[in-house]
Amino acid sequence: MRITMIGAGYVGLVSGACFADFGHIVTCVDTDPGKVERLNAGAIPIFEPGLEEHVARNREEERLFFTTELADSVAEADVVFIAVGTPSRRGDGRADLSYVYAAAEEIARHVSGYTVVVTKSTVPVGTGDAVERIMREARPDIDVSVVSNPEFLREGAAIEDFKRPDRIVIGVEDERAREVMGEVYRPLFVNQAPVIYTGRRTAELIKYASNAFLATKITFINEMADLCERTGANVQEVARGIGLDNRIGTKFLHAGPGFGGSCFPKDTRALVETAREYDAPCRIVESVVAVNEDRKTRMAQKVVKACGGSVAGKTIALLGLTFKPNTDDMRESPSIAIAEALTAAGATLRGHDPEGVEQARRVMPDLDYCETAYQCVEGADAVVLVTEWDAYRALDLVRLKELLRVPVFVDLRNVYRRAEVERHGFTYVDVGRG
Ligand code: NAD
Ligand code: UGA
Repeated sequence: MRITMIGAGYVGLVSGACFADFGHIVTCVDTDPGKVERLNAGAIPIFEPGLEEHVARNREEERLFFTTELADSVAEADVVFIAVGTPSRRGDGRADLSYVYAAAEEIARHVSGYTVVVTKSTVPVGTGDAVERIMREARPDIDVSVVSNPEFLREGAAIEDFKRPDRIVIGVEDERAREVMGEVYRPLFVNQAPVIYTGRRTAELIKYASNAFLATKITFINEMADLCERTGANVQEVARGIGLDNRIGTKFLHAGPGFGGSCFPKDTRALVETAREYDAPCRIVESVVAVNEDRKTRMAQKVVKACGGSVAGKTIALLGLTFKPNTDDMRESPSIAIAEALTAAGATLRGHDPEGVEQARRVMPDLDYCETAYQCVEGADAVVLVTEWDAYRALDLVRLKELLRVPVFVDLRNVYRRAEVERHGFTYVDVGRG
């Protein structure tokens, strides 16, 4: 099949490369000429394990192409995916659909013959209807079906998630489009990935409900962690104790500094706004948004407390800046709010991250960025483990203690064992292990 992927970001590039790997002919279109130029030169603009090999292999076998020009590939395509960004709209938290609508209009101008247009971007319920309306207004004669096919991949494990999904959700309103979508995902039917066909609006809502539920699970365990700290209980044991109940499940119960990333924060906010608009408020999700926002600054207060009540004039080393390991994505990373609060309290900050420094520099230009974790802690008054990259899981505690000016270790991901760190002479503060 011939597929056009509009948007070559985290989702478009991964999906495009994987569809090409299934044997489809894929053209990724992006309005960012720098990105397209890099991709055509064989460079990958993001850090995502396994992606480089996928892109290289499929380019070489002439199944994967990159361009800024949408016209030709859309005219030839059987299926056009929209995978552009849907960030929070400034001021009101709703999803900004301007990129989706712009793409829909442009697609309409160039489609030729029957074409299935698929929204892969995360969009509020009802957006498929709007996309269809926009396209038919732009060109009343077009023969298109508009489908919703939300994406559930996680950054850092994106290729694996795309190729071995827990489920594929296809929101479709007609039989013709359903058959085409079956063909697009046929290579995955062989792997017996469950495919759920629903109406378009249902598919759109499944995506938000899914992200909001996961964000709720994280927020729930984070509040339990606070309670554990007050009561002397251990949140990791609580998580295991509840998670072994199959109805609850052990995943997404790691207490930490609050969820971040390109999706949970914006998608929970957008769901809250959609629910208000339809006069069916999601009060649980409203609380999740508020609790998580508050948590990030409370993590900074934890650091201040660990430093004896003040960080004014002190140097704090932050290890791990991205919102999670194995990505270079800094969008809404808890490290940003923590850094802002510590800076406001008078601290000087140093930072290290295995892959995120290029993006981090753009959002936190004042941090002093270091080449290694050990350089980062040298002479510092405290080290804060913010993101649990593998590189920080087995730090040499003897060396760390020698390098720090004051041996304070704040472990916001509960990577270390208290007894061991304290045995090395540190003041150790973790999350919810009272
Ligand atoms: P991104 O910002 O990394 O990529 C979007 C790309 O679209 C950019 O490269 C941009 O230049 C391009 N673009 C914008 N308008 C365009 C247009 N009219 N024509 C061509 N290209 C255009 O975004 P992302 O992280 O890939 O997310 C895309 C969508 O997928 C969002 O709705 C997001 O919520 C959803 N999603 C993301 C993830 C994830 O892990 N990042 C997972 C599941 C779903
Ligand atoms: C998330 C979902 O997991 C994907 O299914 C979804 O497709 C994607 O959002 C999206 O819609 O974009 P992602 O944001 O890449 O994926 O990362 P997650 O692994 O879900 O982590 C999100 C945040 O929650 C991170 O800040 C992480 O540190 C935090 N988290 C996660 C916890 O604090 N505790 C946990 O137990 C799990």
